[in-house]
Amino acid sequence: EKAGFDHFMLKEIYEQPKAYRNTMMGRVAADGRSVHLKEIGMTPEQIRAIRKVHIVACGTAYHAGLVGKTAIESLARIPVETDVASEYRYRSPIITPDTLVIVVSQSGETADTLAALREAKRCGARVLAITNVVGSSVSREADDVMITQAGPEIAVASTKAYTSQLIAFYLLGLYLADTLGTRSREEITEVLTAMQQLPEQVESILEQANVLKQIAENMAKHNNLFFIGRGVDFAVAQEGSLKLKEISYIHSEAYAAGELKHGTLALIEEGIPVIAVITQEALYEKTLSNIKEVKARGAHVLGIVNAGMEVEVAKSVDEVFTIPKTSALITSALSVVPLQLISYYASLARGNDVDKPRNLAKSVTVE
Ligand code: F6R
Repeated sequence: EKAGFDHFMLKEIYEQPKAYRNTMMGRVAADGRSVHLKEIGMTPEQIRAIRKVHIVACGTAYHAGLVGKTAIESLARIPVETDVASEYRYRSPIITPDTLVIVVSQSGETADTLAALREAKRCGARVLAITNVVGSSVSREADDVMITQAGPEIAVASTKAYTSQLIAFYLLGLYLADTLGTRSREEITEVLTAMQQLPEQVESILEQANVLKQIAENMAKHNNLFFIGRGVDFAVAQEGSLKLKEISYIHSEAYAAGELKHGTLALIEEGIPVIAVITQEALYEKTLSNIKEVKARGAHVLGIVNAGMEVEVAKSVDEVFTIPKTSALITSALSVVPLQLISYYASLARGNDVDKPRNLAKSVTVE
């Protein structure tokens, strides 16, 4: 059942190209110029009436929601807040009938996420669920349901479900942008064209798994490390850090690259590994200057960069891992893949049970 892979997690990492294709299938028009989301029952008029979006989820799904915030805000220009479901209800969120609440849940059974969904409905908001499980509680109770076509996810550490959630958010952002007229047909087509190339680009990252294994084995010798990034790269850094903690039990923190100097820089000492995600050209100079700050304190920096920037970034870091170039907006669907593999191989190097990490369950049905 593991189809020749040593672990479900590895199998699921390798299933991502298929998961991307399946999640896009039937949702991108044949001419590649628009998105159809038949599962969304909102009329164009109802979409135009949305004043704000709340994205609510837990763990890895929350991290997908952070990327989703950027996608929706930048494409559709609707203000978005992303919240951890276990915090959302207790901050007296301002949920009004013109709020679209998006809940994200692989299993569709997470208690906190379900409770947030119910609270949103009680306040009269429309609820859209992004879930991987047809017939799950979340899918039954939401008004609209986008199913991520990742296929069953067995490993406790979520990989293909997360990346499929990203694909769902990109499609949703484009769909909203098209309806609202915030992006031109050319811009929408450009992103969709880039999205169609993602599966092959993921394959090309997977082909370099051995390089990442080597990197991970070195990292597994350390007890602390940092992930840094700006914008969506920070969102991916947070996911990379969670994945590493979850299965390798190595302590790590994800930091917004520019925020380090406000305290955390004190923890940087000789030899500490820092993984810097640097894919956004507009932010890259700034992140490089943050890298110089940690390098000056002896950190060993791995840069995850996109093709075209690798030569320049190589001058400031110790190691570079290059991912293929794509549209800036959707790079997270690529940049997270090396981080998943690093976690996997670090866990393996430490002799852990990769698929069933200690203290954790696949589906969390308690609050
Ligand atoms: C981490 C992980 C968890 C889940 C979280 C939410 O790898 O899998 O953080 O993402 O428990 O689960 P779902 O998406 O089923 O609501």
